[in-house]
Amino acid sequence: MTELIVARTPEELCAHLAQRVGQAEARNLAAVEQRRAAGQTEEDVAPEAPRVATVGLVPTMGALHEGHATLIRRAREQNDVVVVSIFVNPLQFGPGEDYDRYPRTPEADLELLRGIGVDLVFLPEVQTLYPGGEPLVRVTSGRLGELFEGSRRPGHFDGVLTVVNKLLNITAAGASGHPLRAYFGQKDAQQVALVQRMVADFALPVTIVPVAIVRDDDGLALSSRNAYLSAEERTAALVLSRTLALLREEGLSRGYAGIDLDAARQRIEHADGVELDYLEIVDPETFEPPTEDSRRALALAAIRVGATRLLDNMDVV
Ligand code: PAF
Repeated sequence: MTELIVARTPEELCAHLAQRVGQAEARNLAAVEQRRAAGQTEEDVAPEAPRVATVGLVPTMGALHEGHATLIRRAREQNDVVVVSIFVNPLQFGPGEDYDRYPRTPEADLELLRGIGVDLVFLPEVQTLYPGGEPLVRVTSGRLGELFEGSRRPGHFDGVLTVVNKLLNITAAGASGHPLRAYFGQKDAQQVALVQRMVADFALPVTIVPVAIVRDDDGLALSSRNAYLSAEERTAALVLSRTLALLREEGLSRGYAGIDLDAARQRIEHADGVELDYLEIVDPETFEPPTEDSRRALALAAIRVGATRLLDNMDVV
C-alpha cells in the first residue's frame, strides 16, 4: 500500500498529485506491457492503450465516520489516485453556529484514511485557503441556495460553494487534465444539487458523484453532528428516519399523491424532545414541489433534537 502524504498548501498538493498521477500512468503502461509479454499476440494487444489515470477527490470537514469512509472507498474503487480534503470551512458557518465546537479528530481521521489506502490528504489552515481574510468574491448560490437549509442558514451555501469551487480548482490543477471526479454524500441533498449546478454553470472540469446515505443499523443517517447527541437524544432522533421510511412505503405503494405528509409531520412533532423544522416533498434537482416532468421525488426533512440539528431525506417515488 502507498504511503499517505499530507499536503498543507495548494502548491504541495499539486506537486504530490502530479507525482502520484505520473506513477499511476507508469503502472497502467506497465500493466499493458505485462499483458503483451504474457504471450498475447501483438494483434490482440495492439489496440489496447494504457488507461488514462483518473483522480478522485472527497471534500470533507473531518470527524470522519463510516459515511465518509463509504465515499472514500467509492473514490478508491473508481480512481487511480485519491485525495481527501479536511477543512472546517468558516465561511459556511453563521454567527452562533457550531464552528468553534465542530468536532475535530485529526489523528483518528488520518488513521482511517491510511486504512482505506488514500494517496493524499489536503489539510490547509484557514489562512492558507483565505490568505486575505474573508474572500471578497464568493460564489452565490442563487434561488436554490435560499430554500430550506439556505433560508435557515443565510450565506451557508455561498460559503460551501466558494470553498468547494476552490478545492475543485486546486485539485484540477494538480490533476492537470486527467479526469477528475468529486464525491458528495446524498444526506446533504441540497448541497449535492447546488454543487452539480455550480459545476454545470461554471463548466468546471469535474464529474460529481453523489453517494447514497449511510445509516446505522437502527436507521439513523450518519453525520459528524451525531457526536453531539446524548443516548436519549439519539433514540428520539430515530423518529426522523422512521417517518421518512413510512413516506417511502406510502409513495411506492400509492404514488406521490397518496402520501399523507401532514400525518408524517404530526408523527415527528409528537415525538418527545424533537422539534420539526421542515418536512416536504421536493424535486431533488430544483427543491421545488415535484412536477409531471420530475424524474424523482424526495422527502426532505430537518429536525432539532436538543441543541443538535439533523437532516435526512429519502426517495419516495
Ligand atoms: O459536506 C461537507 O462536509 C462540507 O459542506 C464540504 C462539502 C466539505 C464543504 O466544506
